[in-house]
Formats: sequence, C-alpha cells, structure tokens
Amino acid sequence: MPATSLDTVVSLCKRRGFVFPSSSVYGGLGSTWDYGPLGVELKNNVKRAWWRSVVHERDDMEGLDAAILMNRLVWKYSGHEATFSDPMTDCRACKSRPRADHVFAAQKGRDPKGLAEINAAIEAKELVCPKCGSKDLTPARPFNLMFKTSVGPVDSGDDSGLVYMRPETAQGIFVNFGNVLDTMRRKLPFGIAQIGKAFRNEITPGNFTFRTREFEQMEIEYFVRPGEDDAAHEAWIADRQNWYFNLGMRRENLRVREQEKHELAHYAKRCVDLEYKFPMGWSELEGIANRTDFDLKAHSRSAENPDAVGELKYFDQEQKKHLVPYVIEPSAGADRATLAFLCDAYEDALVKEPPAEETAKLRELVESFAKSVGRREGMDANVKQRLVSTAETIAAGLPGSLPQLIGLMEDSDAANIEVMKKVRGVGEKIAEEHTRTVLHLHPRLAPLTVAVFPLKRNDARLVEMARGLKRDLQKSGMRAVYDDTGAIGKLYRRQDEIGTPWCVTVDFQSLEDQTVTVRERDNMQQERLKAPELAVNLAARLP
Ligand code: GAP
Repeated sequence: MPATSLDTVVSLCKRRGFVFPSSSVYGGLGSTWDYGPLGVELKNNVKRAWWRSVVHERDDMEGLDAAILMNRLVWKYSGHEATFSDPMTDCRACKSRPRADHVFAAQKGRDPKGLAEINAAIEAKELVCPKCGSKDLTPARPFNLMFKTSVGPVDSGDDSGLVYMRPETAQGIFVNFGNVLDTMRRKLPFGIAQIGKAFRNEITPGNFTFRTREFEQMEIEYFVRPGEDDAAHEAWIADRQNWYFNLGMRRENLRVREQEKHELAHYAKRCVDLEYKFPMGWSELEGIANRTDFDLKAHSRSAENPDAVGELKYFDQEQKKHLVPYVIEPSAGADRATLAFLCDAYEDALVKEPPAEETAKLRELVESFAKSVGRREGMDANVKQRLVSTAETIAAGLPGSLPQLIGLMEDSDAANIEVMKKVRGVGEKIAEEHTRTVLHLHPRLAPLTVAVFPLKRNDARLVEMARGLKRDLQKSGMRAVYDDTGAIGKLYRRQDEIGTPWCVTVDFQSLEDQTVTVRERDNMQQERLKAPELAVNLAARLP
C-alpha cells in the first residue's frame, strides 16, 4: 500500500537524508527544500531515466540545456508578461490574500470562467474569506508569477536591466528551434528535450515538494506537420504513461484528465494532465499540451513582433514550401515525479505479530485517542472526522493495522492531542519490533543499488572481502556502499527504508567458497551467489 499521509513521507525524507528544509540554520525559507545525499541520488536517477527514455532510446529527439536568464523580449512575446498570473483578492477584515479562483472553486463547486465571473461573485457578496468568513473582499487582481532580477553591475532603478528567472524551460527550446534544426539537419517530426530549473512566485506553495517556487522541469517540445498534431498528441499521452508504469508506478495511482476549455493556457488547443493519487488527493504530475504553432510564430518577425531577427519555420522538401510546425509538449516536473515515486514506493509492513497483551493495550489507547478527538472542541470538522475514523479503523484492525498506526503517529494534526503521547509511547516500540518501512523503488531509481556488510566487523578477513566486493560493484557502475555499523538485521532494516534493492552479507563460508548471501528487499528472500560473478549477476537483474 503506498503512503497514505504526506507527513509520513516528509518524516522519512528528513530522517534519512532525502530532503531537508532549506537554510534551516536561519530558520528556513518557507516552501524551499534542499535535496540531501539520498534525495539527490533519487532525483538524479529520475532525471536520468527520463533522459534515457525520451532522448537516448529514440531516433527523433535531441537534447538542450538553455540558459535560465534570457532576453526579456522572450517573455514579452511568449505572452508571459501579460498573462502569466494568478487572480488574488484581499480580505479587508483579516488582511489575508487568498487566490480568488480557488475561493470561487471551493465555494461554488466549480472553476470560474474568468476574472469577470470571479469579480461578479465578489461584488454580489457570494464569496467569503476562507480564513475569517468575511464577505468584505477586494476585486480580484492578476498577480504576475515571474521572479524579476536585473543584469549589470548597477541597478539603474528603471527596467533597463530587467530580466526574469524563467518560469518554464519551454521557451528556451522554442528560441533554439532554428539552431537545432540547422545544426542537427533534422526532418519533421522531431523533438527537443530539456531538464532545468524554473521559478514561479507561487501564491500558495505547499504540500512539501509538490508546489514550490523553485523547481525542476523535464520538458519536451515535439515538432510536427500541422495536421499530424492530433495523432502525435495521442502517441505522447500513451508514451508518457508507460514511462511511469515501466518505472514501477502502480496503474491505479495514475490517471489521465482532459483539461476543460476554460482551464487551457492561452497557447493550448488541447491539454491532457497525467494525475497522480498523492496522499492529499489526485493532483497534476505532468501536462501534455498541443501548443499549435503559437510559440514559433510568436518569436518570428512579423507586424506583431518587430523585435525578432527572423522567422522560426521549416522548409518542407516534399511540399517544397515553408511551414510553421505544430508542437506537442509533454511537460513534467522532476520534483513532482520524485515525490510521486516516493509516495508510490512507500510501505509500512507488518513482519511479525506482537503478543496479544501488547496488542490489547495498544487498542485501548487508540480507542481512547479516538474518543478524545471526538470530544475536542474548536477543531476543524474535517480534520476531526478524519482522525476519529482513522483511529477507529486502526483500533478495530490491530495488529494488522499497525502499519497504518505509524502514519497516524506521524500525522501533524494528531500530534497536539494529549493521548497521542501515550499511543506513541507504546506504539512506537511495538512498531519498531514488528514492522518494517520499505521503499519499493524501481532498482534504477533507488538511491543505492547494493549494500555490502561483513557478518562481523572485528574480523579483518570478512571486512577485507566485503570492502573488496563493494569496490568491484562500484567499478561496474553500481551505486554500492559498505556498512558495518550494526547487526545484520538492523542494517537490512536501514537499507529497506531507503529502498536499496539488494543487501550482500560476507560470512565465514564466503572465505571458504567465495559465495555470499544476497538478500532481496521486496520479498526478503536470501540466496547464495558467487562473489566474483555478483556484479554481472546483479546488473542482469536491473530491469
Ligand atoms: N511549459 C508548460 C508548463 O510549464 P505547467 O503545467 O505549468 O506547464 C509543467 O508545468 C509541470 O511542471 C507540472 O505538471 C508540474 O509537474 C511542474 N510544476 C509546475 N509548477 C510547479 C511548482 N510550483 N512546483 C513544482 N513543480 C511544478
């Protein structure tokens, strides 16, 4: 079962060095995160798997790495200066500034059709401040999401040095269309892929790394003849789903959602979102849009664009004429994909049953937690209902529901309830002894591929053989580590928790016959394999 609460994943990420709050020595900077030693390996593996799939394993793709800072005119003619904004309203009573379209959607049960409809609802006092309930809201105004900075040694105080931190990597691809076409002698259809940072001054960042102000995108612009765009769009929708499935994502957790007309970006003819069932609900993982010829035309010299130096077009040898290609854009977030793979891979599993009396004591405490929450006043009704029903279900299902209790013990909404301290006092010890946390990550995504242990760390021969084996595995290109800081059972647990697919133990038999024990993460099965053949053997198991 994948993670049911984001708090559980956040807690694992902090505890095991996947993700840390940014600049924490100064109290942090809201919604900014640093990838730690294991997180950077995982995210790099996600990006590597994407690049391999969309560039190296195809014949119709090229790669690109464009600059983050670009001529401001790129953002003028792409439409971002005028339209890349969220509508905000101010509450005159409590001074909060909610997103007006979110307020509208939450209170009317549907998305608004535009700013005019939002403002009509505000004027008619149909919307209330989600924080304090006041109807005294200002008309919604667009708030541009692009971060500004300036180039040059002096800030002149005017806009002459103004540049934007790119809000999408896509424009870097469009403005390089001609360069790639000419230098790589490409024929349609072909695409350009890019991975890189993007920046948006999001009004409501949150849900861990799901929505941040600095993030990484993995984008493809796939150029086709007009008329061939619909078929190419369908093909990419299928390809992109398969990429997630081939990397182990559960089919039931990924769905396709067609964007409604009023949701479409100004450049899109059609857009399909791939949504993942995150613990906070179905949310966008990747957008796959048909951007038509909007961007290439927008950056071509014309009456509307006298600043461009030329035209971004393609000479079709078959038709002997110039045309402007249509573009299909599969646009994924590297951070969001990494988070989705983490949630999908997460499992707290019962490995053996605790004694009946321990279970009974824990059940009693969880029941009293449910009652205590039920009696509590001033608590958000939804949170209350969620905590009560979760606790009741867990109490009824113990000891089988011990893994779900771990989620409840880490739930930030449950932390302030007094009885939770008692639940944790008993529950954490039982969970520690009877469950394991495991990340069932695809072996190509796992931060470490293999961990090697000596059965005894004070036996020089075992240590030497284990270290030598680790070096051989490293030389074969695997991310391998050596560890002797605990008993074997504990070391297995630690590696399960970070998703290492294989653990290898060197014991006394190894010294005699050069075989080692290889333990598989998911089924915990052990087998004896020949040490000199281990690198080849494990490489063959990498799907
Ligand atoms: N070029 C098209 C484009 O940028 P988008 O839907 O705005 O489209 C594409 O972004 C993907 O980038 C999203 O599906 C998501 O995975 C990721 N993304 C967008 N905004 C993000 C944010 N604030 N934090 C993390 N990832 C984000």
